[in-house]
Amino acid sequence: MALRIDILSLFPEMFDAVLGVSIPKRAVAKGLVSFHHTNIRDFAVDKHRSVDDRPFGGGPGMVMMCPTVFDAVEHAEAQDPRPATRVLLTPQGRVLDQSLCQSLAREDRLLLIAGHYEGFDERIVEGLQPLEVSIGDYILSGGELAAMVLIDAVVRLLPGVLGAESGAWDESFADGLLEYPQYTRPREFRGMKVPEVLFCGDHARIARWRSEQRKYQTQKKRPDLWEKYLKKS
Ligand code: ADE
Repeated sequence: MALRIDILSLFPEMFDAVLGVSIPKRAVAKGLVSFHHTNIRDFAVDKHRSVDDRPFGGGPGMVMMCPTVFDAVEHAEAQDPRPATRVLLTPQGRVLDQSLCQSLAREDRLLLIAGHYEGFDERIVEGLQPLEVSIGDYILSGGELAAMVLIDAVVRLLPGVLGAESGAWDESFADGLLEYPQYTRPREFRGMKVPEVLFCGDHARIARWRSEQRKYQTQKKRPDLWEKYLKKS
């Protein structure tokens, strides 16, 4: 059955640009995933259609209120009997990585909550018990872009979305090392030459060179990933 992704946000139209093209579009066409939008503002009850308010105790910014978010979640969840894994996009969450994407890709149903404004009433976390996910240590204006990053990374892992060849890259990244350097025509460009080993015709030797390069590139460019890799192996 297709993975169902419910997206709760204040700007559903932001998603069209990303989910309506390329890999996500193809995955929908193949019946491997479906996207369902809920606009949190549709659950506002006052005449200004407010979804946020000033923080108790003072301080800057606005806070997303509980009632609208809870109502939107309950409405979306009632659309399908399958229980949803709730994900709240927030800079306070666990930082998204390939292994988290892989486990999300194994779910039947995800419900993503993307807020705008400065933050969520803490009772949204307490009451809905979502998995809190961040896409990195910086602050975005809202969770929508973070939700799109997560969706893109998860959808490409669904069986049948990518051909076996492109899928191999995602899998190789999951082992914790960066890719080996790649080259294509021309063989020489502005004095820069393609490494000779790639023309030797000895597949085992090329594979060995690539495997060494992955380690070397990771050590040089991402010492943090390298440390993790050493601890794991
Ligand atoms: N909302 C605002 N900033 C974010 C981030 N870095 N990750 C996820 N959601 C966010």
